[in-house]
Amino acid sequence: MPALSPRRPADASCAPRRLFFALTLPPALRRQWVAWRAARFPAETGRPVAQANLHLTLVFLGNVGAAQEQVLRAAAGRLRQPAFDLRLDDCGHWPGAGVVWLDCRRAPRELLQLAAWLRDRATRNGCSQNLLPFHPHISLWRQATQPVALPPDTPGWTTHVSRFGLWLSAFDNGRVRYRLVQDWPLRRDGPQ
Ligand code: 2AM
Repeated sequence: MPALSPRRPADASCAPRRLFFALTLPPALRRQWVAWRAARFPAETGRPVAQANLHLTLVFLGNVGAAQEQVLRAAAGRLRQPAFDLRLDDCGHWPGAGVVWLDCRRAPRELLQLAAWLRDRATRNGCSQNLLPFHPHISLWRQATQPVALPPDTPGWTTHVSRFGLWLSAFDNGRVRYRLVQDWPLRRDGPQ
């Protein structure tokens, strides 16, 4: 997926952009989730999230001005959180929100710390956050407002997470598309 130019000037004349921090997940895994979803859920479950849009949101920032975006990018560049393994071994349904999702029975501590660190920076820089606790998940279906027969388990996909990114949510030909603005490495294990 092409990254947008990181050299956009920080002048305030640019329109705010709808941004979020998220984990970038491997294309091979996203393909497997799409195949699993097609095999385990009926098509009338809802609107399937496009393969390219499958991601795990860390912090939703909302509409962010150019200067504010630069501050958040600089903060993300200073982050020193460790890389971690993520095991996606559960799925669930929020009928009110109409979302069917994948998640982890036990979220890794490093994932929770990463999201908390970014959320703190977002709040300090004027991005209001909802007060609900962070529930890491990957949305598979939207508009799933009817009861859903969830598969009893998932294959338990595991991936190593070594980067996180800032993503842009934009409308393109009437569809929401997510594009990577910039991403950063997480700290590798080993002596500090
Ligand atoms: P969701 O998958 O649970 O809907 C980009 O919109 C991402 O930010 C989505 O993954 C969405 O999570 C998440 N998000 C969190 N809060 C949001 C909000 N208030 N509006 C839109 N998206 C939000």
